[in-house]
Amino acid sequence: MDQQTSRVDVGIVGGGPAGLMTALLLKRRGISAAVVERRSQEAIRTTQRAGILEAPTVDMLVDAEIGSRVLTEGHEHEGTVLSFDGVQHRIDFQELVGRSVWLYPQNEVFRDLATAWQAEGGEIHWEADDVAVEGLESEAPVITFTDAAGEPGRIEAQLIVGADGSRSMCRRLIPDEVRTDYFTSYPFAWFGILCEAPPTAPELIYANSEVGFALISQRNEDITRMYFQCDPDTDPESWSEEAIFDHIQQVLGGEEVVQLKRGRIIEKTVLPFRSYVCDPLTHGRLVLAGDAGHTVPPTGAKGLNLAFSDVRALVPRIVEFLEGLTGGEGLTAGADDVGSGPGAPADLTAPLRRYSATSLDRVWKAQNFSWWATNLLHRAPDEDEFAHHRRRGEFRAITGSVHGQAYFADSYTGWAGDRHD
Ligand code: DHB
Repeated sequence: MDQQTSRVDVGIVGGGPAGLMTALLLKRRGISAAVVERRSQEAIRTTQRAGILEAPTVDMLVDAEIGSRVLTEGHEHEGTVLSFDGVQHRIDFQELVGRSVWLYPQNEVFRDLATAWQAEGGEIHWEADDVAVEGLESEAPVITFTDAAGEPGRIEAQLIVGADGSRSMCRRLIPDEVRTDYFTSYPFAWFGILCEAPPTAPELIYANSEVGFALISQRNEDITRMYFQCDPDTDPESWSEEAIFDHIQQVLGGEEVVQLKRGRIIEKTVLPFRSYVCDPLTHGRLVLAGDAGHTVPPTGAKGLNLAFSDVRALVPRIVEFLEGLTGGEGLTAGADDVGSGPGAPADLTAPLRRYSATSLDRVWKAQNFSWWATNLLHRAPDEDEFAHHRRRGEFRAITGSVHGQAYFADSYTGWAGDRHD
């Protein structure tokens, strides 16, 4: 036998948060998994991503007992500030819907998951090249790759999870005849900076003005994350530090409203916007999770939270699928969810299709919220005066009514009561 061959229950393409969380939760259920990732651990750890976690995402990190620092180093946010033309409105999540969100950057989530998976002896191949998946329509799907040392590798599994991010190779393995790609694009992007400055305000500020959108987020006492709306073709080097801060201050409405804390800029990037959904999220022995199956624009910070809600819905369905293969033998997993029951059809992949339907139901709610919040808070380059005033009316309808505020709070904090599993 080829020395580089592993045999596991589940092969996972992608070692970001979706892939690693799936691997860890499967292991808790006695199911073996191996992960292949194209990028280096360092590259993933240092890529800036969003920083807001919904309560169920935090619960997953805590319940998985992986030593996540989310509760000690993360910060609970009981509300956020929305600002339009320099007038601020606080949305009180706790008062409106009884929930909070946590500021804990995705890089830290990744670090916690990667550390735990490796500490538990989990198989992972970083910097894998030539990653390919074969045999999805057979009973023996395989991941092949070239490892970081240039040696060929092979993972034989019962099921493949494609958690390989927004440029997913796995999603293209769902044949065109059965796959629908839903897209929309936006005429703007975000210019993101990290700077050496303390927090400007106790909570995040989502601000909108005549010159577009800005978001003042946070990282820690010394580092701040901010974004402002820009043209997708912007060269980050074309903006000086002073011009960036002057512009963000203008969006906030001037120093009499809030005084922006400035500091040396240590990173500048332009983040493109797009919305994408792949339907279905499964084919044969493949399931997609996280950005591989759906991408949202960053307004509302839904990306990682959707990835985790996928994993929450997916893991019990994988257990069910594998039990179906073995007739319930050989797995230590608990049967805490509805089984297929006596007389059920022999289609073993039915649980995977149920996962797809469950996930897409939530994904479309998040697509709606991310699209809506984006359009509410950004100024399109061709926006006319009617559209601008209409948008201000919409903003006032949200911030000026407890029901409007509750809609925002419920969506932003992740839809209570939405069990999705
Ligand atoms: C952050 C990013 C977001 O897209 C968002 O909506 C909130 C916070 C962040 O990077 O902190």
